Amino acid sequence: MTAPPKLLIFAGSTRRNSLNGRLAQAAADLALASGAEVTLLELADLAIPMYQGDLETEGMPADVMRLKQILFAHSGWIICSPEYNGSYPALLKNTIDWATRPVKSDPAWADGLKPFSGKVVGVLSASPGALGGLRAQSHLVPLLIALQCWVAPKAFALSRAAEAFDADGGLIQDAHRQSVRGVIDQVLFAAGRLAPTPGAAETASRTQFSK
Ligand SMILES: Cc1cc2nc3c(=O)[nH]c(=O)nc-3n(C[C@H](O)[C@H](O)[C@H](O)COP(=O)(O)O)c2cc1C
Repeated sequence: MTAPPKLLIFAGSTRRNSLNGRLAQAAADLALASGAEVTLLELADLAIPMYQGDLETEGMPADVMRLKQILFAHSGWIICSPEYNGSYPALLKNTIDWATRPVKSDPAWADGLKPFSGKVVGVLSASPGALGGLRAQSHLVPLLIALQCWVAPKAFALSRAAEAFDADGGLIQDAHRQSVRGVIDQVLFAAGRLAPTPGAAETASRTQFSK
C-alpha cells in the first residue's frame, strides 16, 4: 500500500504571535485531526541569511541544505503567507530563493528545482485587513507554478485575522475551519496521486503526461 502523503506546513513570518503562524498551527491541528502526517516548520528555527551570491560561493549554508531536504521529503505543503504591500514578504522570497539554488558540490542536489518539482501546494494567508492577504496569494501562486509546483485550486484568505483565533489558537468560526480543511483535503488528495513519495515526486513530474 502507498504511504499517505506527508504534509509540510509553514508560515512566511517569524514574528512572535504571528497571525500566519497561528493559522499554520490551526491548519496543522486540523490536518492532524483528519489523520494526516504533519510537519509544522518554523522558519525561525532555520539560520538562513539574506541571499547573496558570495555567500553561496563560500558554501551552501547548512540550514539551506536542511530546508531543501525538508521540502523534498514532503509531497504536500501548506504555505501561510502574510501580505506586505500587496505581495508576499521578503522572508518567504528569500527562503524560496535559497531553496532553488543548485548545490555544486553535491550531484544529488544539482537540480535546483528538486525540492519543488511536482509538489502539491495549498496557499493560505492571514491579515488584519479586509482582504486577508489575497493579493499576496496572487503573487505567490505564479512563483510556485514557475517552480513546477501544483497549486491546489482551493485557497483561503483569513481576513480580520486578529479577531479570528480563540485563546488556544484555534479558529473560532466553523466557516474558517471548513475553508482551511478544504485546502488541506485538496492538497492531500492531489499529493497522494501526483507525488505519493518523495522519490516519486521527480518521476511524477517527468511522466505525468506520458501515460
Ligand atoms: C511592510 C508591511 C506592509 C504591509 N502591507 C500590508 C498589505 O499590503 N496588506 C495587508 O493586508 N496587510 C499589510 N500589512 C500588515 C500585515 O498584514 C500584518 O502586519 C500581519 O500581522 C503580518 O503577518 P504576521 O502576523 O503573520 O506576521 C503590512 C505590514 C508590514 C510590516
